[in-house]
Amino acid sequence: MSTSITAPATPFLITPDTTVGALVAARPALARLFEQLEIDYCCGGKQTLAAVCARRGFDVATTITLIDSTHAALMAGPAEVDAAAMSLTQLADHIESTHHAYLKSELPRLVEMAERVAIKHSWRDARLPQMAAAVTMLAGEILSHMQKEEIILFPLVRQIERDTGDEISRKELACPIRQMESEHESAGDLTAQLRELTDNFTPDTESCNTHRALLAGLADFEADLHRHVHKENNVLFPRALAAATH
Ligand SMILES: [Fe+2]
Ligand SMILES: [Fe+2]
Repeated sequence: MSTSITAPATPFLITPDTTVGALVAARPALARLFEQLEIDYCCGGKQTLAAVCARRGFDVATTITLIDSTHAALMAGPAEVDAAAMSLTQLADHIESTHHAYLKSELPRLVEMAERVAIKHSWRDARLPQMAAAVTMLAGEILSHMQKEEIILFPLVRQIERDTGDEISRKELACPIRQMESEHESAGDLTAQLRELTDNFTPDTESCNTHRALLAGLADFEADLHRHVHKENNVLFPRALAAATH
């Protein structure tokens, strides 16, 4: 999936109280660093750096220095969009045209491969049927989730910026947003289960090409899901709630 740069990074002071979600919203390129460190910045975006470091045994000051120095290097690579610089409508459109479009074409392919691999190879890895069932359940949940966003929530979000006189209240937004956040948690849990069932999406020497393609596809899916959920939980939803009338 390709994305483009929309704006240069803006100055952002990182402190121990900065949440990882706010940090990735301000510096989207850091998503890759957090993925490498297995720090959850999407569903777990409300955690502060101090809390994450305490749990992982990292020194906070050293971590902040590492984040600052790594950021410049990361900016040299392929960039994420700056979701915080977009209007609500632009961001909803961007999420639909990139993350949702990717998932609609990729999920059926992953389900098909997972079922094929489970049928052919479960004799040598008893976890494969469970893995295929998890992929199928995840695909079903996400496709239905995206439909709710596209039909119910995103039209409300776009309406906030339209001058139609038809004002959207915080109360109207709060309920679907809570529901979407809880569905994000569920997708995150199933994806974590898949990571465990596949030994971190790692093939073994006997894995066939379909199995290898499936594992690579699942790893890409996980990385995309993190960026997607981050843009919704930490940027689109809080900004929509703040912009709603009362
Ligand atoms: Fe979405
Ligand atoms: Fe979502």
